Amino acid sequence: MRSFQWIKNYIRPYKWLIVFGLFLVLITSGLHMVNPYLSGKIVDDVIKNGQTDLLMPLVIKLIIVTFLASVLNYFYKMIFEHISQNTVFQIRKDIYTQLQEQDFMYFDTTRTGDIMARLTGDTEAIRHFVAMIIFTVFNNFMLLIFALVMMFSINASLTVLMLAITPFIGFFAYQLSQTVRPAFMRIREKFSSLNSVVQENISGNRVVKAFAKELYEIEKFTVENDGYRQAHWTASRIWESYLPVLDGLASFMSVVLILVGGILVIKNKITLGQLVMFSGYLWALNNPMRSLGWIINDIQRFSASTEKIIELLQRSPRIKNVPNAIKNHKIRGNVTFRDVSFKYGRDYALHNINFSVKAGETVGIIGSTGSGKTSLVNLIPRFYDCNKGEVLIDGINVKELELHTLRSQIGIAMQDVFLFSNTIEGNIAYGKPEASMDETLWSASIAGVDEFIHKFPEGYDTIVGERGVGLSGGQKQRIALARALLTQTSILILDDTTSSVDMETEHRIHTALRSMNRKQTKFIIAHRISSVKDADIILVLDHGCIIEQGSHEELLAKRGTYYQIFQNQVGDFQDFDEEEVV
Ligand SMILES: Nc1ncnc2c1ncn2[C@@H]1O[C@H](COP(=O)(O)OP(=O)(O)OP(=O)(O)O)[C@@H](O)[C@H]1O
Ligand SMILES: [Mg+2]
Repeated sequence: MRSFQWIKNYIRPYKWLIVFGLFLVLITSGLHMVNPYLSGKIVDDVIKNGQTDLLMPLVIKLIIVTFLASVLNYFYKMIFEHISQNTVFQIRKDIYTQLQEQDFMYFDTTRTGDIMARLTGDTEAIRHFVAMIIFTVFNNFMLLIFALVMMFSINASLTVLMLAITPFIGFFAYQLSQTVRPAFMRIREKFSSLNSVVQENISGNRVVKAFAKELYEIEKFTVENDGYRQAHWTASRIWESYLPVLDGLASFMSVVLILVGGILVIKNKITLGQLVMFSGYLWALNNPMRSLGWIINDIQRFSASTEKIIELLQRSPRIKNVPNAIKNHKIRGNVTFRDVSFKYGRDYALHNINFSVKAGETVGIIGSTGSGKTSLVNLIPRFYDCNKGEVLIDGINVKELELHTLRSQIGIAMQDVFLFSNTIEGNIAYGKPEASMDETLWSASIAGVDEFIHKFPEGYDTIVGERGVGLSGGQKQRIALARALLTQTSILILDDTTSSVDMETEHRIHTALRSMNRKQTKFIIAHRISSVKDADIILVLDHGCIIEQGSHEELLAKRGTYYQIFQNQVGDFQDFDEEEVV
């Protein structure tokens, strides 16, 4: 089975510890054989034959054996607990590492709740398997073997009679495992859905409140909660319907033993003490049968969880390094798009994009919403790969560059700003933690962070909430801009980075950006012409096509779409740049 093959690799480092643990289990199982034997001896030698002097030594032996078994039990449980914690630690680490390697497409299509379920509930099922099931199965197996040996040595035919019942137990146990498996898979799925609803609700709690949709959300949650309950209920019903049968068959053995064993005692075929021993060993034969139900239950739970985790661990990201990817290239910043077309799903979001910029030049990108501006710049750091054509940096196809080499040399302030729950300084220095305070303050001043930082008593040490809660939209954008600037890379992408700041601040930021004395190829996406008009080349996008490209003056002279946008925004210019307006 795939799950067992998979977990084998994880527990291999603990091979000898497992062997030692199982050795302790073996001794404990052996010790469990001693007490029924001693009890039989007490009945035969002490009670029946009146050898009362034997009572005390036998009782002392009983106590020592019980004590020893308990101590060993403690130690092997601790050993398996230790192995399970370490194994799951490694599995969680691998899942997390694998998550870091996944591409945008994966996160576009996977719910956060599903991922959280992998890291929590699913790993817990694995922990339980390693901590409990491995030794339980071995323990039960050894008890069964030892008990059979002891029972055969007392009376073979009585043992065979007991064994005649076991195939039925095996059959029902197998039936149970087959029936309950889909039910456990369903539990895992419902757990994921429940997680997703909760996670989305927490992330979107402000929208929920704004639209007064609390009751609706509670109902949505109730549906998922109920689905989860039903899934458990279905699995329990299956399980519970088999359990009495398994249990009943096991108890039936005791009835048969009393009946047949009693007759054998009366006929003097076995002694009363031997019947007592037999009855004691029957527990060791019975117990594995009784446990079979829940062992199968837990194994199914384990295998359902591992299936889900293996699925994630084996998912190969589409965006990955090619063999012998170029590692040591210092990007200069020449960027060329050659016949680039790109689609997320069925329809193309970008058609036949062609343009070229030299290192140090600025590209302005303008166009209506959904025209493909973000999609276009996302192809430069390979967040997605284009379907046709090629994106070249310094004449090298981006697919040839090692991902870390490529991305570490591109600074980006994304349209959808994300800040970590950390200090403002920590957020700015995210891409370059080794940056000096001077560098950080410099990028903060270009991004206009210093204009508002004094409003926070703790300044740069102010801790921002999750996703930057506690800051205004424009403040968040400016921190994200400072974060991108600090990396001082040869390519800088600013995706609508000043859309939430007022026009005066935007103007100041763009003037500061222009004044930066740095050879950096900049891609500036904006809706306002004032942000892009100084670019060396401006791309006007519409429905995924570049419909116009050129400098501000060239495009105005064309009297096309750019000119129209300019006309609509001309008032904005008059406020700040009157002398620059054509
Ligand atoms: N992750 C995605 N999966 C599928 N389709 C997407 C995805 N992101 C964007 N699209 C689609 O691609 C097209 C271009 O989107 P894009 O985000 O590039 O537009 P944009 O020009 O940046 O718009 P805006 O000015 O609103 O930011 C849109 O039709 C959008 O629906
Ligand atoms: Mg966009």
